[in-house]
Amino acid sequence: MGERNLLFGGFFVPKMTHSAESLKYAVEFQVHDDDIFAVTYPKSGTTWIQEILPLILNGGDVTPVQTIPSWDRVPWLGPTRTALVLGDRPPPRAMVSHMPYHCMPRSFYTSKAKVIYVTRNPKDTAVSSFHFHGMASFLDDPGTFDQFLDKFLSGQVVFGKWTDHVKSWRNTDIEGRILYLTYEEMVQDLRAAVLRMAQFLGRELSPDVLEKVANHCHFNNMKTNIMSNYSLVPQDIMDSSKSPFLRKGTTGDWRNHFNAEQEARFSAIIKKEMEGTSFPFPWDDE
Ligand code: A3P
Repeated sequence: MGERNLLFGGFFVPKMTHSAESLKYAVEFQVHDDDIFAVTYPKSGTTWIQEILPLILNGGDVTPVQTIPSWDRVPWLGPTRTALVLGDRPPPRAMVSHMPYHCMPRSFYTSKAKVIYVTRNPKDTAVSSFHFHGMASFLDDPGTFDQFLDKFLSGQVVFGKWTDHVKSWRNTDIEGRILYLTYEEMVQDLRAAVLRMAQFLGRELSPDVLEKVANHCHFNNMKTNIMSNYSLVPQDIMDSSKSPFLRKGTTGDWRNHFNAEQEARFSAIIKKEMEGTSFPFPWDDE
C-alpha cells in the first residue's frame, strides 16, 4: 500500500490527491455553523450527492451542475485542491469527505455544521470499488476479485475498513445535525431522498422543483453530464475504457460478482464486526 498512499489516522489515503500539508489543512480547517458535509465511505454515492446538494441549495438552478466540475462545485475536504477552492467561498459551503468521524476538522465537533452520511450495501460498495481500482491509476491494482475482497475486508484499501467507517459515524454525539441516508433508498425513490435532504437542510422545494432535481440527478442524466462523469480527468489517471466512473448505478450488482463461498465469507465478517450495533440497513435480510 506504500507507493501510492499516505498513512493518516490509521488508514491510507491516495498520495496523488493528498499531502501531509493538505491533511493538516483539513484538521485545522475552520468549520462554520452553516457548513454542510456529505460524508461517505468511498463508492457509496459521493458524486451523486455532489450533484444533488447544489440543486437543493440553489432552488433547482442547474447552472452550477452544468458548468462546474463536481470536485469544485462541492469540494473535497482533505485533498490538496481543498485550500484552492474552499478559501473564500460564500456560505453555505457544501463539502464532501471520506473521513471517518474521528478525523474531521478539530472545529467540526463543537460547530453546528450539518452532516449527511450515506451508507451503501458493503457488497455493492466492494464491487464498485473493485472496478474503480481497475480504472484509476492512483489506486493499487485490485488483483483478482477474490484478492480484492480480502483487501476490502481487512481495510487494506483507501480510507480503511467499511465497518470502522460506518460505526464511527453511527456512534457520534452530534445527533440532530446528522442525516443518515442509504444509497439504496436513493435508488428506490430519489425524489423522497431529495425531499429528506432538503427538509434536513431547512430548504423548501416546490413539487415541480423536487421533480426537476430528481430527474436531473437520475443516473442516465448524470452519466452524460461531463461536469459529473469524470470524463474531464485524463485517461492515464482514470481510464473509462476499463470501467466508466458512473458504471452501473444499481443495487444488488454484487450478485453478478460474488460466488457462494465469497458471499458467506464476506457476510460472516461484516456481521461479526457489526455485532452489538442497532441500526438496521435495507440489505440486512438479504
Ligand atoms: P457503481 O460503480 O456501482 O455504478 P462515489 O461517487 O462515492 O465514488 O460512488 C460511485 C458509485 O455511485 C458508482 O457505483 C456510481 O455509478 C454510483 N452513482 C453515481 N451517481 C449515481 C446516480 N445518479 N444514480 C445511481 N448511482 C450513481
